[in-house]
Amino acid sequence: MSDVDPSLDGPPWEEDVPERDENTDDMFGAPPAAPEPVATPGAESAPTPAPAPAKAEPFADEPADDGAYKVLARKYRPRTFEDLIGQEAMVRTLTNAFATGRIAHAFMLTGVRGVGKTTTARLLARALNNETDVIDKPSLSLTAHGRHDASIMAGQHMDVMEMDAASHTGVNDIRDILESVRYAPVEARYKVYVLDEVHMLSTQAFNALLKTLEEPPPHAKFIFATTEIRKVPVTILSRCQRFDLRRVEPEVLVGHLGRIADREGMKIEQEALALISRAAEGSVRDGLSLLDQALVQAESGATVQTATVRDMLGLADRTQTIALFESVMAGRTAEALENFRTLYGYGADPVQVTNDLLEHCHAASVAKMLGPNATRLPNDQAQKLTALGAAISAGTLSRTWQMLLKALDEVRRAPNPADAVEMAIVRLAYAADLPGPEEALKAIQSGGTLPGGGGAGGPRGGGGGGGASAMLAARPMAQPALPDPQTFEAVVALIGEKREITLQMDVERYVRPVSFKPGAIVYEPAQGSPVDLARRLASRLKEWTGRTWLIAANGQGGGETLIEVEKKARSARRAAVEADPFVVSIMQAFPGAEIKDIKTLAPAVEMPAIPEDDEVGEED
Ligand SMILES: Nc1ncnc2c1ncn2[C@@H]1O[C@H](COP(=O)(O)OP(=O)(O)OP(=O)(O)O)[C@@H](O)[C@H]1O
Ligand SMILES: [Mg+2]
Repeated sequence: MSDVDPSLDGPPWEEDVPERDENTDDMFGAPPAAPEPVATPGAESAPTPAPAPAKAEPFADEPADDGAYKVLARKYRPRTFEDLIGQEAMVRTLTNAFATGRIAHAFMLTGVRGVGKTTTARLLARALNNETDVIDKPSLSLTAHGRHDASIMAGQHMDVMEMDAASHTGVNDIRDILESVRYAPVEARYKVYVLDEVHMLSTQAFNALLKTLEEPPPHAKFIFATTEIRKVPVTILSRCQRFDLRRVEPEVLVGHLGRIADREGMKIEQEALALISRAAEGSVRDGLSLLDQALVQAESGATVQTATVRDMLGLADRTQTIALFESVMAGRTAEALENFRTLYGYGADPVQVTNDLLEHCHAASVAKMLGPNATRLPNDQAQKLTALGAAISAGTLSRTWQMLLKALDEVRRAPNPADAVEMAIVRLAYAADLPGPEEALKAIQSGGTLPGGGGAGGPRGGGGGGGASAMLAARPMAQPALPDPQTFEAVVALIGEKREITLQMDVERYVRPVSFKPGAIVYEPAQGSPVDLARRLASRLKEWTGRTWLIAANGQGGGETLIEVEKKARSARRAAVEADPFVVSIMQAFPGAEIKDIKTLAPAVEMPAIPEDDEVGEED
């Protein structure tokens, strides 16, 4: 993008085009009616003097005082390709294609959540129809204000159609589109069809699409976006140019979050940003949602502390459970138990920890066979698990998987889930240190003694074994049933388990429940609620629970949002602590003392004894 005006290389969010609807989670989406303090080029109404020529103040596109807080992810959606972070490879390929005029007629954008698929789809729609005084062909230079940009961004362009396949999954929806494909564009160069979440289309809808994709009229372009490329038929895939959007590396994300915190006029410790970036696991949107949450917790003007963020994350951080998995697989029982207790102390959910261990076991196994890239995890985690996988036999891994599945079931049912995790750890660490049948056989044949049973061995070497305590795994293991949340709180817990950080925050912040039954939720949206929240929730819940969920956002007289409930509970807790006679006496004894934080310490639990030199058969 050599022709980009260097003076305009600032983030796209500094652009001054109003967005379509602030409640749509997107760049097309800002408030037509909101009292925007800006943003016509050169407008003097910006609250503070613009730092660079012809640019609006960074925050100028924030609705000033309609009370609705605009979350960072929406506020800072990139408006040019230069503003996309971490997707240089894709941008390079696109730049070449555009420069040589070899532009595909269909694009498939895929990648994990929040890495810029929808954003890229919209940028591409503008790029294809890019037209300015100096540009008269498709071009990725979006910094200048093109003839069609404003109306495309306002979602009002006649020739750019955007459809969310998640809510228009039927064949008729597709037919409507295909009907219009035949007609030439009205004012732009191309008719562009953006189909987001395309994996949600029905089979018939895909089939209907196929014919048009095979021989599209030259004036039509299709842009598809999906998180689940495996659910898209190959027949469709083979007709598209595919781009895999990468997870954004933590260092890159740290820089991005730091810049945004600056723009928001907030201070946050570098280490805290690093924690957030790690927990976001490469998703920019998750990173921004977490940053949002961290900034909200800060006292105004104060620097957000690392400790606050660590508490807030409550250990959504997978690297910690990888360390746990490592010590379990190395048979270091005491260390593993300590690890788990630390996690639990930080508020980690025992079910989530067990789920994580299952995921790590799977990733280590896959990486063992196919290499680190097959894990689809962030780089550092993939490397770690690959190394682990290499050191453990396939038999042990498969046995561990079976034991973990069983443990998950137990943890879900146990009156005290943390105890169940600890028992599972003891069992796993013990079994990990036992010889596989082949090793045992060899040892017996060579007249040696059987190793194992001790607590401190390293991981079993690569030998083939089908697993020492095959008897542990021999019992047929039922696949865990799909979750079936029976309360609203259980739904929120499930979202947390699945690590959908943004969805979880939105539900906690904006949903005032009116009624709940499994499969149907009616709520009243709190002010500022994203318009697509009900749809996103329904689509995720369907995916996880295997049943259809009817989510209606049109309820009246809903209860409090979870955030409000939590806030109230927190102040009640604080009031109770402040009124406690013991605390009162301390406060009197130490004038000027403050209550900084209130914590409930995890109850001390007896350490289970670890068998030193025991028989295999004792297990279970
Ligand atoms: N590569 C990126 N560079 C900068 N910001 C990004 C990037 N990817 C995502 N974001 C931020 O995250 C928000 C959401 O991005 P976007 O909607 O494009 O993600 P997505 O990949 O479509 O996610 P999903 O799979 O959930 O639909 C954007 O508004 C932007 O703030
Ligand atoms: Mg998207």
